[in-house]
Amino acid sequence: MCGIFGYKGISSDATNIVLNGLKKLEYRGYDSWGFASFQEGKIKIKKEIGRIPNYSTDFTSHLSIGHTRWATHGQVTANNAHPHTSKDKKVVAVHNGIIENVSELVEKYKLEKETETDSEIIPLLINHFMDEGYSFVNATKKACLQFNGSYAIALINKDSEELIAVKMGSPIILGIGENEFLLSSDIPALLEHTNKVVYLEDKDFVHINKHISISKIDSETKIIPDIKTISWNADSAEKEGYDHFMLKEIFQQPSSIRKTLDGLVENGFPSLNLKKIHLEDFKRITILGCGTSWHSGLVGKFLIESLARIPVDVEYASEFRYRNPIIDKDTLILAISQSGETADTLAALREAKRRGASVLSICNVVESSIARESDDILYTRAGPEIGVASTKAFTTQVTMLYLLTAQLVLKNKSLSENKVKEMIVDIKKIPELIELVLKEEKNIKVLANKLSKKNNALYLGRGIQFPIALEGALKLKEVSYIHAEGYPAAEMKHGPIALIDKNMPCVVIATKDILTYDKILSNIQEIKARGGEVIAIGTKGDFKLKELVDDIIYVPETRYSLTPLLSIIPLQILSYHVALLRSCDIDKPRNLAKSVTVE
Ligand code: G6P
Repeated sequence: MCGIFGYKGISSDATNIVLNGLKKLEYRGYDSWGFASFQEGKIKIKKEIGRIPNYSTDFTSHLSIGHTRWATHGQVTANNAHPHTSKDKKVVAVHNGIIENVSELVEKYKLEKETETDSEIIPLLINHFMDEGYSFVNATKKACLQFNGSYAIALINKDSEELIAVKMGSPIILGIGENEFLLSSDIPALLEHTNKVVYLEDKDFVHINKHISISKIDSETKIIPDIKTISWNADSAEKEGYDHFMLKEIFQQPSSIRKTLDGLVENGFPSLNLKKIHLEDFKRITILGCGTSWHSGLVGKFLIESLARIPVDVEYASEFRYRNPIIDKDTLILAISQSGETADTLAALREAKRRGASVLSICNVVESSIARESDDILYTRAGPEIGVASTKAFTTQVTMLYLLTAQLVLKNKSLSENKVKEMIVDIKKIPELIELVLKEEKNIKVLANKLSKKNNALYLGRGIQFPIALEGALKLKEVSYIHAEGYPAAEMKHGPIALIDKNMPCVVIATKDILTYDKILSNIQEIKARGGEVIAIGTKGDFKLKELVDDIIYVPETRYSLTPLLSIIPLQILSYHVALLRSCDIDKPRNLAKSVTVE
């Protein structure tokens, strides 16, 4: 949510470096953008609404900061776009997060705001302290101690070629190159410059002048940075020939799942190598997540309860912390997050820890805040996911939940060791089976053409396919702006059936299983009897289903607990092509952001 990029170094092309970095961060927010570049006592500022154009400037500078915005406080206007400045334009700041006590500070220090944003308070207050005689560094530290809320801030000032970064609650990463330093909200934007990074911690204060020094906002003591080397390469953050990141990421799923499985299976058994968490210590699991990660949590509940026989609750992270949850030492908190930075999930995790719970996380981004604050971490190896609509993160999360289930089954002895071995044999076949589903793209495009002309769609599924109905509907609405609802198929008759007519297509996930297959065929008949149109996802060779429905996309047969990993693929491809036909901005859907770092 909002992207920050900063550069200070040997290159005189700092502005273009920052603009280029911002383009890579645009998936975090893209309603307006801006930069500020320093040149011998002058600061050049540019702010505009809309997307970052292919703009390049000949303004030479060795120091620049920039921002791409996802509006929280104040409308989308050039005035509200970042950077924000003090009145005399001496102090210039870009900010990600929310400062909550703005009106209090405005009143206390008699400050005059000129924008509707909370962020403007940052340069105003720093400048106020500089006017009282504090240095740029000390004024910034003093101001930060006054702010309530969350922030990642990058700052420059007119009088000296210094760059400051501060972190409190919102992400910011320091990149260390050859004779240059970079700041970025996320790793992929840094990769073309360096793979040496420092994940800043809350309260970290970075001051880059001729040299770099890191301390805390409330202390002078220098911190020795823990420099990590990133293994992702720059290509992994490029489209590599695909028209959109979303399509690339859909097609990467076989390899992402293979990478996620790699190293977590030994001699045919799951081997999750948890360091602090002992799975046998817990009697209940509470899963926390948002959006797509919440959907993978629902699949996880189904897997863990039905196979490992441990009760599982799945909670929206945003609701969990506000309802006095019952957590005890027997409850394991399982936080799921692609980015590891979602503010609601992070806040829920902190609340659970405050109540004494142990936290295990499933994250994709290494060293992200959620990963660092958890007692133990399981990393999905999906690589950078740039498309705002999550695809490969979902299937790798489900893969990890399946491995976790297999590990719990072994501990609980709820199934025999041989059965666990069979579970592992089957998940290893999934990447190949997904490759077969990906070959159906042409047929799916034909269905996309039909669906693209509708305004609404109903997605139905039962059992383990119900979360897939939710995720399929979410994908469609996110990228194509068609209203779509996911529903348990049998619940349709308690409400949504009133909506069925020829204008309400129903996407029904009706893969074969012994529990609900016959029932879902009856649900399809109920739709057809009311003139509804049905697109089914069915098991290859199911001619009975084909007879009943208007259109069908087949997925190969696999064990029931793995069917979500196949049935979601055509739904992702369908959403992509519907959005393409409707000329939507697929990788950056309106109003959304990839990583929601505000509550
Ligand atoms: C945003 C994204 C979704 C994502 C959700 C949770 O809403 O647009 O794609 O599922 O955040 O993100 P997380 O990084 O915590 O999985």
